[in-house]
Amino acid sequence: MTMSGKTLTPEERNTLIAQLSGTTDDQDWWRNAVIYQIFPRSFADGNGDGNGDFKGISAHLAHLAGLGVDALWVSPFYTSPQADGGYDVADYRNVDAMYGALHDFDDMLVKAHHLGLKVIIDIVANHTSDQHPWFQEALAAAPGSAARDRYLFRDGRGGNGELPPNNWPSDFEGPAWTRVADGQWYLHLFSEHQPDLNWDNADVLREFESILRFWLDRGVDGIRVDAAQCLIKEEGLPDLTESTRDTVDDPRFDCDRVHEIYRAWRSVVNEYDNRVMIGETPWIKDFSRSARYMRADELHTLFNFNYQFMSWSAKSARQVVQASLEQYVGAGSVSTWVMASHDRPYPVSKLGLTDLATTLVGIGPHNEQPNLELGLRRARAIVMLTLGLPGSACLYQGEELGLFDNTQLEAKYRQDPRFFTSPDPKYIVGRDGFRTPLPWNSSQTTFGFSTEGKSWLPQPDSYRDLCVDVQQFEEDSTLNLYRMLIALRRRFALGDGVLEYLESDRDDVLMVRNGKVTIMINFGYMPIAVPEGDMLLCSDPTVSGDDAELPGNAAMWYTSD
Ligand code: NOJ
Repeated sequence: MTMSGKTLTPEERNTLIAQLSGTTDDQDWWRNAVIYQIFPRSFADGNGDGNGDFKGISAHLAHLAGLGVDALWVSPFYTSPQADGGYDVADYRNVDAMYGALHDFDDMLVKAHHLGLKVIIDIVANHTSDQHPWFQEALAAAPGSAARDRYLFRDGRGGNGELPPNNWPSDFEGPAWTRVADGQWYLHLFSEHQPDLNWDNADVLREFESILRFWLDRGVDGIRVDAAQCLIKEEGLPDLTESTRDTVDDPRFDCDRVHEIYRAWRSVVNEYDNRVMIGETPWIKDFSRSARYMRADELHTLFNFNYQFMSWSAKSARQVVQASLEQYVGAGSVSTWVMASHDRPYPVSKLGLTDLATTLVGIGPHNEQPNLELGLRRARAIVMLTLGLPGSACLYQGEELGLFDNTQLEAKYRQDPRFFTSPDPKYIVGRDGFRTPLPWNSSQTTFGFSTEGKSWLPQPDSYRDLCVDVQQFEEDSTLNLYRMLIALRRRFALGDGVLEYLESDRDDVLMVRNGKVTIMINFGYMPIAVPEGDMLLCSDPTVSGDDAELPGNAAMWYTSD
């Protein structure tokens, strides 16, 4: 690894990283932050039961501080039957026993803050678990009761109400309605275990304001708003038609009144210093509609999923970057770039497929198997774009290790509802493959994930070479690439920068300049001559500062006058 052509020793590299570390502490911290997503069940197990937990997170915070990230986003850890990886919440003010207790959360928060790391939690407000006391109360109550009004119960259609109230599909396949014993139906845009709340009900509004305060009072720095566009449905719940599906007129989501909720939430959040709300709004296609969520009195920013869906070409990358910057900056916010999350395959796996199939949910044994060597080259290259762009970036746990999906996971281990409701479970296998427990230590069972060698999902044997203890001492490891990129990003203030597009005579090469740093990505296979300049870093470790060429499927950062 070289900096201005000079190879750093491991000690020099660590000193440099230490010098460059330190997080901002102003109200705009989210505008340039590197956020690290923790999927808690798979991060680290501190009590030996095979499930990740807060003790495990606390024990590994140094890894995150060493990586140089600014904030953690912890996916839902509340009391939950885990029908959808915790996105089915039964008690919003408590920690699921699997993850510890509230004091373990508090302990983690204090330790994270001590290390300069912000903590973002995930609020799931579109639906609760079917085990939530409100839903249980609603089931026991009569149609038309106050308890039922907190959810979206309706009578069915057909002679005896035997047909669902409308034709909406669930995002997890099948109808979005389930019938209860007395014949009424309830709406669930996701699984049947996730009944949608009625956001026109005053109890719901009051309850979530109180839940926000509960966590803000505990000191969390931010809220990720799950399925933010879904909370309000169109009045009367009209059928979907071919002309409304996935358009601005889709009755299932993005209805104007949803913004009243975020204005109310923002006024709560504004009572606290430096707190932020980031929305997850994946189904909205029209950016002018997305922009409305980022108005000054609503959410601070949105996760930018379009970035994740680019195809492997310079043209596609430029299009999505250019459009996103214009849009998000135009909306007065910043783009929060997302290349990976708990909902999509790891970049190494996705980018190693011939057919990128970027919308594919899960790669199983019967799908095309990724070329992991190619995938890793590309994943290392694309993160050099992600971390070089202005705005905020969100990394998913394990991507810093170059992890890949466990594509051979047997059906008996699968837990994702998408697998159980899959129209074709042989080919559409769900999300478990990229929720594999992290490998920390190559000489321990479960690669150090669990203190007792147990793991809720098996890990591929080949994770051994990707363990943190292996990579931290390998100069050219993916882990050290991420560490250097994050450190240099901070040093050159790239998160606050402005992007310029440079012309290349090759249409498979993207060149952009952010302040002093030029980023060159070769999406093709033919090497390309590198312009004059001092190389900071190359995704391909065989390239040195004296080399005149950038190989295919690789990227470089360099400075020039
Ligand atoms: C979005 C979350 O990211 C996903 O994991 C979950 O299944 C749905 N929302 C439903 O909560």
